[in-house]
Amino acid sequence: MSNYRPPYIEYSGYLINGQIGHWQGNYAEVTSQIVLNSEGKGTLIGKVPDMDSDHALLALDAAQRAYGRGQGKWPTMKVKDRIECVERFVSLMTNHRNQVVELLMWEIGKNKSDAAKEFDRTVQYIYDTIEAYKKLDRRSARFDKESNINAHIRRGPLGVVLCLGPYNYPLNETFCLLIPALIMGNTAIFKPAKLGVLLITPLLDAFQTAFPEGVVNILFGRGRNIAAPVMKTGKVDILALIGHSSSAVALQDLHPNKNRLRLVLGLEANNPAIILPDADLDHTVKECISGTLSYNGQRCTALKVLYVHSSIVGKFIEMFSRAVDDLKYGLPWEDGVFLTPLPEKNKPEYIQGLINEAISKGANIMNKNGGKMSGNFCYPAVLFPVDKSMKLFNEEQFGPVIPIVAFDNINEPLDDMANSEYGQQVSLFGKDTSKLGPLIDILANLVCRVNLNSSCQRGPDVYPFTGRKNSAVSTLSVFDALRSFSIRTFVASKDNDYNNDILRNLLNSHHSNFISTEYLL
Ligand code: G3H
Repeated sequence: MSNYRPPYIEYSGYLINGQIGHWQGNYAEVTSQIVLNSEGKGTLIGKVPDMDSDHALLALDAAQRAYGRGQGKWPTMKVKDRIECVERFVSLMTNHRNQVVELLMWEIGKNKSDAAKEFDRTVQYIYDTIEAYKKLDRRSARFDKESNINAHIRRGPLGVVLCLGPYNYPLNETFCLLIPALIMGNTAIFKPAKLGVLLITPLLDAFQTAFPEGVVNILFGRGRNIAAPVMKTGKVDILALIGHSSSAVALQDLHPNKNRLRLVLGLEANNPAIILPDADLDHTVKECISGTLSYNGQRCTALKVLYVHSSIVGKFIEMFSRAVDDLKYGLPWEDGVFLTPLPEKNKPEYIQGLINEAISKGANIMNKNGGKMSGNFCYPAVLFPVDKSMKLFNEEQFGPVIPIVAFDNINEPLDDMANSEYGQQVSLFGKDTSKLGPLIDILANLVCRVNLNSSCQRGPDVYPFTGRKNSAVSTLSVFDALRSFSIRTFVASKDNDYNNDILRNLLNSHHSNFISTEYLL
């Protein structure tokens, strides 16, 4: 099935307090769902430590010591010095591009071009974060004066961050949390997602070399052994998680000091597309293909349901189904492959269950190849008509099955969105501005990004990425992430000669890293 040799990494390391330890306990096997044998079994590609709660608590101690209750070297360091550490890290990280891209293909089945994009986008995000922090610092290198009070206002860190990323973007989304958290002066404990674990292992040395001891601590293992005991101590200041809201709620519930805990969460979405009668169908089909099926639909921003006006639903389904059937299926490294095997062992069974249930309630598979399965290959199924009685309507499928709902009255999709627990993004397809205008005004209040004649997506990363209701807490973007991982804090003094002399002396003496009007260019 493949002439591409699988990797095999038996990794025993973990990073606590600046030391890469050698794990002595149990190990967890890492199995790729890319099948190379005739029995249809996944491929063993490595082992990682299955660490315990004692080590999780050691990592917490290390992160706490490095933060030093705000008195540590890292949170009080000059911005320039923290930036240097991140610069060192990103330059070391780039040496591992090929290996990380290969592991993204094997561990999570991402096709080669998307895997390379994930790596490059992450590196760019880190460089952009450095520039955004310099800009923020330049803006803070000044005093304000209001009502006879001089104020020097900056953004300061919050403390210890527990950072947990998702399996679908195990590098990008995790580092888009971790790097802004660190650069702002927080310290972190980071556990890779359930899939996409080996690809972090080549980077431990880079973390160790670039950051002072205890600033970043990396553990491998299960959430219940690592995240849960750390949260129970009440010593985590920020929970940074991209994943499912049930995990986010369970972890918050363990924290005894709820008001201490800041949340930076990216959760489920169930983004819809609304296709109006005058939409350009060629263009709409193209956008809906990438919206629904990039990375097999396993994106939080993916289009999870298509609402199509009944006057065009027949034509749309015909064109869309043909386009779906034309998509190239294969192994992640093969040229031009769009669809790949699903990385979760039981996902095809789940997808099959959704399809069967929808069919039993009156839906049909509309495309020729729809629902064909072979091992973890799962050909996308276009289902119509889908209604509220079906699981496929109510659950975020996060995979290659596309429900289509016909509507006559625009209030039908609008009411569904208003009633939904989610509110991340929508795609709106149409042309008539007298119809689009009022719709945009409503949709902007139901979600946080209205994509006009475009699929939903997170990027470009400088734009705000967030959601309403159960879809997110806090906003991420290159700049907003710096805000999410910090708090405004300032030094104030009454405007008189006595205080102003002291401020001048502080500025001239460079005794404070906080009170400084030096610019970072
Ligand atoms: O899984 C959610 C990701 O943030 C989606 O990012 O829209 O760039 O694929 P993307």
